[in-house]
Amino acid sequence: MDNSVTMEKIVSLAKRRGFVFQSSEIYGGQAGAWDYGPMGVELKNRISRFWWKEMTQLHDDIVGLDAAILMHPRVWEASGHVENFTDPLVDCKKCKQRFRADQIDPAKLAKKECPECGGELTDTRKFNLMFKTHIGPVDDGTGLIYLRPETAQGIYVNYKNIIQSNRMKIPFGIAQVGKAFRNEIVTKNFIFRTCEFEQMEMQFFVHPGEDDKWFNYWREQRWAYYEKLGIRMNKLRWHQHGPDELAFYAKEAYDIEYEFPMGFKELEGVHNRTNYDLTRHQQFSGKDLQYIDQENGNERYIPFIIETSAGLTRQLLMALCDAYEDQKVADKGTDDDWRTVLHFHPTLAPITVAVLPLMKKDGLAELAQDIRGELKEEFATDYDQGGAIGRRYRRQDEVGTPFCITVDYQTKEDNSVTLRFRDSMEQIRVPRTELESTIKKAIKNYKRA
Ligand code: GAP
Repeated sequence: MDNSVTMEKIVSLAKRRGFVFQSSEIYGGQAGAWDYGPMGVELKNRISRFWWKEMTQLHDDIVGLDAAILMHPRVWEASGHVENFTDPLVDCKKCKQRFRADQIDPAKLAKKECPECGGELTDTRKFNLMFKTHIGPVDDGTGLIYLRPETAQGIYVNYKNIIQSNRMKIPFGIAQVGKAFRNEIVTKNFIFRTCEFEQMEMQFFVHPGEDDKWFNYWREQRWAYYEKLGIRMNKLRWHQHGPDELAFYAKEAYDIEYEFPMGFKELEGVHNRTNYDLTRHQQFSGKDLQYIDQENGNERYIPFIIETSAGLTRQLLMALCDAYEDQKVADKGTDDDWRTVLHFHPTLAPITVAVLPLMKKDGLAELAQDIRGELKEEFATDYDQGGAIGRRYRRQDEVGTPFCITVDYQTKEDNSVTLRFRDSMEQIRVPRTELESTIKKAIKNYKRA
């Protein structure tokens, strides 16, 4: 069996086990949009909660925000998105395929030759990635509104509100998780690049002279986050934006890249956005957005912003790819020699504990349900009584459940159960009264082999 991790395997498992479904599948699917099933929404919520805890609970100087997706259209003029948020686009006149010009072999582009069919390409034109719609009952052009292409601007326009309402002092940060929309020309590689996605962004406001120090601090913090998340660190690397990649307002930018099945690709960015955004919003809104430092002789300045910008849905894809393994566990020459297992960190696993009665009869099912009832306040639990116990373990391995509890005849006698660990497949006998503490300790001490 081929035990490599491919995108086909990830897509197939994601659908089979209820992580991710194609949007509107019964109508043939909607490109660029995906639905998160029972396992997917649990995984997504757990990643989001992990990030939120990391950024707010563990950083005293960061507070949260949930700004609206719909914002005043002037926001996007001020931010530069109306003018500059474009991709270069070409169409093939023969096969009608559409490409991003910057992703085509430059020699072919120069000859206007389609990379797929060799047909003639159109001239390159700029294409704005923002989705437009209108607000109000009549579409007469006056109610133009955009679906936000990033969550960041909602933070910038609220920065003064937050200083005033929460008495924040520089340096401080504002964190936000939410939907963003981009009319991407090419959406491929499953949920890697989509038209509707979620971001987890944090904007950190600093004194202009201290931006380099905080930029380095946030680079270190964001790298350490992935280690805590249980990601294999040899799959990550830094990529510094060269002069041709750097956004025109950015002083410095680094991406953290993950080695997906299709190669190293951007996971999140750490950007020094200077005082560009707030300066522009001050100019466009006519409101004074200077910070007044009352502890330093009322010094006034527009803060610099260090941004950490991660894709939530992209992190979910990373979590799936990183956890996936086709593992040989026996040598009998049958399909059962192999198991598919997701080695999620237990804090990310959609189900933490599955309770499995060895048999449905003789009161074992009721006993197992009872044990599940005891544990569900503390852990996300599942109950499965269908089929051979080995098959049930495999089903749980496939969705990454780190702990399985088997209730058998001995349980009826001495109130002990079998606790099985997903990664090692080791089984130990644990008194029912010590289950909760044993599992909590195992979660705390978890290290992927
Ligand atoms: N506020 C800065 C900003 O939005 P970005 O590099 O355009 O920067 C940040 O996006 C992150 O959002 C990316 O690193 C990626 O994880 C995620 N992202 C961007 N476009 C995406 C898309 N079309 N689909 C899924 N995730 C996307």
